[in-house]
Amino acid sequence: MDKVLVTGGTGFIGSHTVVELIETGYDVVIIDNLCNSRIDTLDEIAKICGKKPVFHQFDLRDENALNAFFEKEKDISAVIHFAAFKAVGQSVKHPIQYYDNNVGATISILKAMAIHGVNNFIFSSSATVYGDPDVLPIDESAPIKPATSPYGNTKQINEEMISDLVSSNSSFKAISLRYFNPIGAHESGLIGELPLGVPDNLIPYLTQTVGGLRDVLSVFGGDYDTPDGTCIRDYIHVVDVATAHVAALNRLLTGNFLERYEVFNIGTGRGFSVLEVIASFEKSTGERVNYQIVDRRPGDVPVTFASTTLANNHLQWKAKRSLDEMTRDAWRWQKNLKRGD
Ligand SMILES: NC(=O)c1ccc[n+]([C@@H]2O[C@H](COP(=O)([O-])OP(=O)(O)OC[C@H]3O[C@@H](n4cnc5c(N)ncnc54)[C@H](O)[C@@H]3O)[C@@H](O)[C@H]2O)c1
Repeated sequence: MDKVLVTGGTGFIGSHTVVELIETGYDVVIIDNLCNSRIDTLDEIAKICGKKPVFHQFDLRDENALNAFFEKEKDISAVIHFAAFKAVGQSVKHPIQYYDNNVGATISILKAMAIHGVNNFIFSSSATVYGDPDVLPIDESAPIKPATSPYGNTKQINEEMISDLVSSNSSFKAISLRYFNPIGAHESGLIGELPLGVPDNLIPYLTQTVGGLRDVLSVFGGDYDTPDGTCIRDYIHVVDVATAHVAALNRLLTGNFLERYEVFNIGTGRGFSVLEVIASFEKSTGERVNYQIVDRRPGDVPVTFASTTLANNHLQWKAKRSLDEMTRDAWRWQKNLKRGD
């Protein structure tokens, strides 16, 4: 079976994807510098799928280490590139660090792939590239809006770099997956999202509130033009996001693509409001959420959800897991995290 490099493979989405790749039969090698993940994730992956992936710890921007890696790990067929910083608020405070890591690491890996003749690339993009959409559901032909954060801008720059590279090199093939709102955790409770400071996002904040780490969950805005007044997002279970990568990889490696660079939305195609997520959490876990509705937060878009037609038809992939499964699995993971983790 093909050997695949997963950068950022001990992180949240990366670790779930590694599990799905191994379970599909792929040989997986990870590079991660552990700046936002833990080494023991490798043992948890082994507990889930019976095989521990090969692991190399270094920063992708270290080009010497990367070239030495490709010389050692021969026969890599494809790279799935997750490694990046991901906190939107932090990117506003530390823009240069974000450009350095999120653009720099991609340049570094793409250069090394060219040197070592690896021509298949899957990139972690984001629905943030669409900004406040004009039309719902959002399909892949929707205009890319000016980024509202350095983080969002790094995703746009990465997509442009990949597109330019594909145009310049007829051997190179790539797929960008624009994730909507990945949440949840593996149903084993062994892997999930690690908290990074005070969460910006609903689910980690919610689970930390119920877990006693935060006092109250603030719901930003109860007066949006939505049925219950709160923002609507397309939440997707992280395991469904992971299986989308296996589908994208199969597409690249079998040569079964229409264009050498393709972009797919990865969502469920259905939006849920913040209050619906809270209700689902309370129903699936039996816990009560202490929340309060506060003022709108600048920069929040009222409603986003994906058109998934392209991914459903071309990747032969569909998100399967319900919102209740997402909230239940997120809570199981939070309970397994020790205080202070
Ligand atoms: N989680 C989301 O909601 C979401 C949504 C859209 C897009 N994305 C993108 O998906 C990707 C994965 O996100 P995640 O939620 O799994 O994040 P994560 O922080 O859990 O995982 C990223 C991993 O990359 C590693 N890493 C970062 N910079 C590195 C470097 N220079 N060298 C080596 N390793 C490095 C980190 O240690 C971490 O393990 C990111 O590119 C992110 O921007 C995430």
